[in-house]
Formats: sequence, C-alpha cells, structure tokens
Amino acid sequence: MFSDRTYRDRRSQLIQTLRAAGERGLLLFLGNAESPCNYADNTYPFRQDSTFLYFFGIDHADFAALVDLDEGTTTVFADDLGIDAIVWMGPQPSVAELASRGGVDRTAAASALAEALVQARTLGRRIHTLPPYRTDNLQRLQELLDRRSVPEASVPFIRAVVEQRAVKSAEELAEIEAAVDLSVDMHLAAMRMVRPGMRESDVAAKVTELALASGAGLSFPVIATIHGETLHNHFHGNTLKSGDVFLLDCGAESRMHYAGDLSSTFPVDPTFTSRQRDIYTVVLNAHLAAVAKAGPGVPMREVHRTACRAIAEGMKGLGLMKGDLDAAVEAGAHALFFPCGTGHMMGLDVHDMEDLGEVYVGYEGQPKSTQFGLKSLRLARPLQPGFVFTVEPGVYFIPELVRRWKAEGRFTDYVNYDAVEGWLGTGGMRIEEDLTITETGARILGKGRPRTIGEVEAERSRQEGLDRRA
Ligand code: GLY
Ligand code: MN
Repeated sequence: MFSDRTYRDRRSQLIQTLRAAGERGLLLFLGNAESPCNYADNTYPFRQDSTFLYFFGIDHADFAALVDLDEGTTTVFADDLGIDAIVWMGPQPSVAELASRGGVDRTAAASALAEALVQARTLGRRIHTLPPYRTDNLQRLQELLDRRSVPEASVPFIRAVVEQRAVKSAEELAEIEAAVDLSVDMHLAAMRMVRPGMRESDVAAKVTELALASGAGLSFPVIATIHGETLHNHFHGNTLKSGDVFLLDCGAESRMHYAGDLSSTFPVDPTFTSRQRDIYTVVLNAHLAAVAKAGPGVPMREVHRTACRAIAEGMKGLGLMKGDLDAAVEAGAHALFFPCGTGHMMGLDVHDMEDLGEVYVGYEGQPKSTQFGLKSLRLARPLQPGFVFTVEPGVYFIPELVRRWKAEGRFTDYVNYDAVEGWLGTGGMRIEEDLTITETGARILGKGRPRTIGEVEAERSRQEGLDRRA
C-alpha cells in the first residue's frame, strides 16, 4: 500500500470538498466481505471494495469506517481475528495495525458501528452512503440504517468520491503503468504462441499464468477468442484454425489492485489474410485518430465520434457503408459494426467506479444517450489531466445484428447490406490502449506493443522460448 500520509490526505481532501459543499454528518464506508462460491468456506478470491481501498488501504474482509464531517475524525470498525481463525489463516495483523497503516488511529469493534449509527440517527445527523453493489452489503446497509427498501445513496458523497478518484496522482499512475506493462507482457506472450491447432484456453491459461506469477492477478475475466464479434466473449473452448483472427482482451491488476486493460487482434496464421488486413486497417485508423483527438478539455464524446467517423469512412472505402458519413454517424448507422463505446475510465477498477454510477463517472450527472451504440459509451465528459482511460474502437461482424437490421430495413441509406453479408464470418477486431491525459496532450501508458500490421506480423514470427505443441 501507499504510505499512511496518502490515505490521510485523501480523506482530508474528501472532507474538505464535502464541507465546502455545505454537507454535514457522517460518511459511511463499507468494505467487502468474503463471497461464497458454492459453500461458505469455498470463496471467490477476495476483492476489497475499491473506494475502501482508496481511502483506507485496508485489503482485508469485514471492515467498515465512519468519517465524521463535523468533527473531522475517522473510525475503523472491525474485529480482531480469534485463535480459531488464526489456526486456519495464519497470524493476522490486528485491526489497530491495519488502520494505522492507513493513517487511522481510532478503531472500534464491528458491533460498535450499528450503535454509532443509531446514535447519529437519534441526533438527526445525516448518514451519507454509497450505492451497494453486493447483496450482502445491501442487506447490511438496510440493517444498519433500519430500512426495508434500498437506502438512497448520497449524491454529494458519490460526486466527491468520483471527482477525487478520477484524477490519478503520480504514485497511482506509476502503479497503473506497472499493471499495463505486465498486461503488455501477457499480450506479447499470446501473440508469439498462437497457431492453428491450439485451443483458446491455451492462450487464456498463458496470460493468466503471467499475471499470477508476477504476484498480481487479472483485472477482469480474460477474453481470448476467435469470435471477437461477441464483445465480452468469455468462452475458451474453440480450437484455432488457419484463417481465424484472434482477439485477446486482458489485463493485469497490480498488487495494490490498479488495473491494466489492453486488447490485441492478430491472425492465427503468421500473417493476416487480405480481408483481415482491410478490417484491421479500419480499426487501426480509428484507434490512431481517437488517440490523436484525446487531450485536456476534449470531451470523450468527441473522441468517440472521431473513432465512429473513421470506422464509417473505412467501411465506406470497403463498400460496406455509403452516403453522407456525418449523417450516418449522427443517426447511429456505424453502430452496426461498432455497437459499443470507445473507452472507459480505468484505475482501481478496470471500469473505474462503475459501481458509483456511469452518469457521475462519465457524464457529470447528465443523462446518457439511449441511441444504440452511443448508450454503451461509458465516458463522455471533457478529459482532464490525470484521467486514465482506455481507447478501444473495434469492428464487429455480428450476424444476428446484421440480419435483424436488414430485415427491419434500418439505415438502408447508409449500409450496403448485400455487401456486408459477404463479410459475415470475418469476426471481430479491437485495438485497445490505456491513456492518461497530461497538461498538454495524452500519453499512452506502458512500454508499448505492436499495433501496425507490420509490427503485429513481426511479433507473430517471434515464437522462440515459448511452449510449442505439435
Ligand atoms: N476490457 C473489457 C472491457 O473494457 O469491457
Ligand atoms: Mn476496456
């Protein structure tokens, strides 16, 4: 974890922001508990709540905290583990020790939290909460606040946390960049190993191995597929064959839980087919245009529009779209090939702070579009120095979507459906990098990896030193 000063400063900043906005009362932070997989003692890997990690640095289950906006005090609530737990889990740091590493010197038993909240309610003090995303914490919140329905989260609290976490400090950037570098290694290993006869699960296993061997983990479930047209395809059961194109979307999470998130597309053969080259070039041009557009003050909505325009232009060049491209993009016709957003914030979560609400994270509280494609853009607001986000345009041939739109006669002024039918089976391609905004522009994080066709094919020919199956 960072030094205790970091966590103290973060809490002070939060208190200052909320006080300046005229808020009073208590801020309630709930850490996560262990989450059972198929029975209570067989749990999913523990993952602390990211906001709890951000403000307290405590990476252990069953913690909560209260920050008193009026008094400026912080109390961490948890119970020291008894000898029964230590027999199974080994020696554990005390609650006081964990709190002190995060710069907190007031601790209390877990049961004292309910008492503190009863007292606050009796005095009519406001208790600010964040939206729970796990049912156990929802239930805990209802019990703590004596509510039957879902307690309404505090918008000022959400906004203050979002604004603070959105701007990454130098020490956070270093941590994210380490996660991105490891993610680059995972992608390079995959690019060098893939060939016909392998299974998708071989590649998924390799990238997972690299993440785990470094002592870190994955920032989200691996996408390693020859069916990249399914956006979040977590099936790894296909065997790769000559002529397929492989889409890898995976990232490492650093030991402090900062994410990397990269996508690569490469041929299963040593080189791309001519059709794959055509589509890859469209995606690369969209990616480069979007990266070039990003900078301080530029709304991410414009970065997205730039990517969409480049995709429409590329598809027109291939005879798959037609007509006035600005009008086509405005109407959403390009979403036939690019039905999602160009990027999302990244930090302690791979989709940073999505639990706090996309309208706050990506839209400054304004409503999102409901248009197909645009509605999946998670980040639209003006980019600021210190923001970290992804740029990940793609082109996807989704047969079901093409057939449905064709049958419905949608966008016939802009889409050459007969030509598109001939491309079904080309799959899906995406190129994703992680960027940060600086005072003067945007910087791609990490040590870099092949993106052009020449670079990707050169990397594909470097198969030495890795497992080679017959
Ligand atoms: N890399 C997974 C996602 O951005 O949704
Ligand atoms: Mn992503």
